[in-house]
Amino acid sequence: MRRKLAAGNWKMNGTAASLSEVEALAKAHPAPKSEVLICPPATLVAQMAWKAKGGPVRVGGQDCHAKVSGAHTGDISAAMLKDAGASHVILGHSERRADHGETDAEVRAKAEAALAAGLVAVICLGETEAERDAGKTLGIIGSQLAGSVPEGAAAANTVIAYEPVWAIGTGRTPTLEQISEVHDFLRAELAKRFADSDGFRLLYGGSVKPSNAAEIFATSNVDGALVGGASLKAADFGAILAALDAA
Ligand code: 13P
Repeated sequence: MRRKLAAGNWKMNGTAASLSEVEALAKAHPAPKSEVLICPPATLVAQMAWKAKGGPVRVGGQDCHAKVSGAHTGDISAAMLKDAGASHVILGHSERRADHGETDAEVRAKAEAALAAGLVAVICLGETEAERDAGKTLGIIGSQLAGSVPEGAAAANTVIAYEPVWAIGTGRTPTLEQISEVHDFLRAELAKRFADSDGFRLLYGGSVKPSNAAEIFATSNVDGALVGGASLKAADFGAILAALDAA
């Protein structure tokens, strides 16, 4: 049985005042069936981890460097995130692939660093609208999966998030058939490489909100969500978590 995962990605949003949302979420959902993760900006990881201690919410980073330490101004290592109280790190988000030119090889190197530091890597994949329109979705997803997920990955240390680029922050979502087509494909591809492929959690991300969460969570091979905008408010993220617990 795969434990479901509701993951929030705050992106470049939030200041110390936003930590009250995490307290409100933990108060409203003290013992959810699903695992709950929030990935705030790096400035809030330590404070959030401190506030969340002993509760249901786990805390993650949004990126890490592939090296353990060194002359890399502005970067943060996986070991530093772990030291700050993080348990997970999002890697290869399409915004980092687009804004910072991250390649599959770089994402894979970062994932290796995350696993070495004892973090769970949440590795993101997804096609652009042009790629989908050209019928290339599964080809793109397959090559991102092959290139970004390291050999050391296993169900216990790696989560895969399918986030179609055109569905992120747009209010548009794929049809349930399109989601299950990709998630079933991911499951089959993982089975070619990993003995415990059945245990990997596969998250859907892109415009998940309280009103569409239940139907998405009823889709085959969807084990949770990676939520952007709707994770910023405890009420919305809590509603998504409740839908996941009920699925
Ligand atoms: P939205 O939920 O705001 O569409 O963002 C999805 C996402 O990119 C999560 O990583």
